[in-house]
Amino acid sequence: MSATVQATPTREVSPPALPKADSCVLVIFGATGDLTHRKLMPALFDLASVGCMSSAFEVLGAGRTQLQDQEFRERMRQGTSQSKDARDYSDEKWQQFAKHLHYIVGDPNDGGFYPKLADELERMRVAGSSPNRLFYVSTPASLAAPIVEGLGAAGLARNDKGWSRIVLEKPFGRDLQSARALNRVVENVFEEKDVYRIDHYLGKETVQNMLVFRFGNSLFEPVWNRNYIDYVEITAAETLGVESRASFYEETGALRDMVANHLLQLLTLTAMEPPVAFDADSVREEKVQVLRSIRPMSREEVARRTVRGQYGPGVVDAKPVPGYRQEPNVSPNSTTETFAAVEFFVDNWRWAGVPFFVRTGKRLSRSLTEIAVHFKRTPQALFARTPDEQIEPNVITIRIQPNEGIAIAFGAKRPGTQMQTMTVQAEFSYKQAFGTKTPAAYETLLLDAMRGDATLFTRRDEVENEWRIITPIEEAWAEIAAPAFPNYAAGSEGPERSADLIAGGDHRRWRQISSDGSHS
Ligand code: BG6
Repeated sequence: MSATVQATPTREVSPPALPKADSCVLVIFGATGDLTHRKLMPALFDLASVGCMSSAFEVLGAGRTQLQDQEFRERMRQGTSQSKDARDYSDEKWQQFAKHLHYIVGDPNDGGFYPKLADELERMRVAGSSPNRLFYVSTPASLAAPIVEGLGAAGLARNDKGWSRIVLEKPFGRDLQSARALNRVVENVFEEKDVYRIDHYLGKETVQNMLVFRFGNSLFEPVWNRNYIDYVEITAAETLGVESRASFYEETGALRDMVANHLLQLLTLTAMEPPVAFDADSVREEKVQVLRSIRPMSREEVARRTVRGQYGPGVVDAKPVPGYRQEPNVSPNSTTETFAAVEFFVDNWRWAGVPFFVRTGKRLSRSLTEIAVHFKRTPQALFARTPDEQIEPNVITIRIQPNEGIAIAFGAKRPGTQMQTMTVQAEFSYKQAFGTKTPAAYETLLLDAMRGDATLFTRRDEVENEWRIITPIEEAWAEIAAPAFPNYAAGSEGPERSADLIAGGDHRRWRQISSDGSHS
């Protein structure tokens, strides 16, 4: 049983002054793709609406599709007006914003396109646009290297009139070898300080708050270690299926799509040491130390410490949905995993022996992303009348989404003449405390890239270390026969075997996805 108390701000909250982006021309490769109209455009529109954009800001979309500026603007309008990320959309505001959108036709694989792009950027500069350039690579992974090389060959990576930076979307390679090869291509063309490898989870407000929660309060840090913490659970559950991305997903799977980046990033922020300063290098240095402390698994460990799954037909949000193998463009014999759970160990002084259980899956019972830090039981069961009736150990839950906030569960005495206990929760909810909509992750990250702040982007050695951990799992999975798929129903909590992974003979269990994360 649980009860809840609220955490509220101790003084009145006034909105902080908005940082302003440098003026620039943002060149988007993959401008007709999903991400551009679903995420990037709403984010840019929002930034412009709240006054963060310079008036000398222009977007130049690049893609193979033949489009006129007007047609490009109309596509972007549709995406933005339908997006729940765009605050206060109105046609009037859109008309103002749309004047800054332009389109250029070009094939990223064609070396002849880049001089044409350079000419266009020069023409825009002479006509009064900013000399600063931000290149955003939002294309299938195989195009990243040709784009970087093309920009280099056309002299676009160096800029004596302003700055040139590049943002690279995930996936950044598909294993350690390909990530290293791509990094070498990038390094030959851009300086590392101008390279922004994006992991949009780092732009989420609650993810950033993790640093404030841990290092801005003296209450938690002294107990944030193996002496007090029993285990850590990190969940990213989605009700969505594979949608229209089957060809990408068939090649990728849940481990590469979510664990290799988003979930390992959440793990590093939970486990990292305090940085000496809150700047890009100090923060990233500490994160990379965590990744370096995770031992790559042997094949035998992969068999014991990982679980993969694939959804079958089921019911999600009260609607019947097909299984993964029945989705359009998915092979009827596909062995691609749509669920992955892994037990990681961070072998350093602070965390030795504390398991970090991470899991992610498509078509689960509810959409939920959270980090739950489980503390050890009290040494004596003072208040138990029976062995089964102990006070639940403390849990700190950082809810990344939805219902962003932090909950701390602890035991309390129930009112009455008997010594009966129950678990209560101290709750902090972003919405209730601050009332405002938190900026979407892409708003934060685009603004940071335009201001030259790389703190929330992934450094070269971080990406390589992520793949150093993930590649042995992928290799072992390729050798060990896949379980009989499908092994979980759409709308469920995932494969049954994942419960064994976390239990491991102890009292540990996953928090229930379907019931607000609490134990069943
Ligand atoms: C993307 C993955 O990086 O993150 C998608 O490719 C996934 O498969 C998405 O759905 C989840 O992001 P969010 O912000 O909705 O949690």
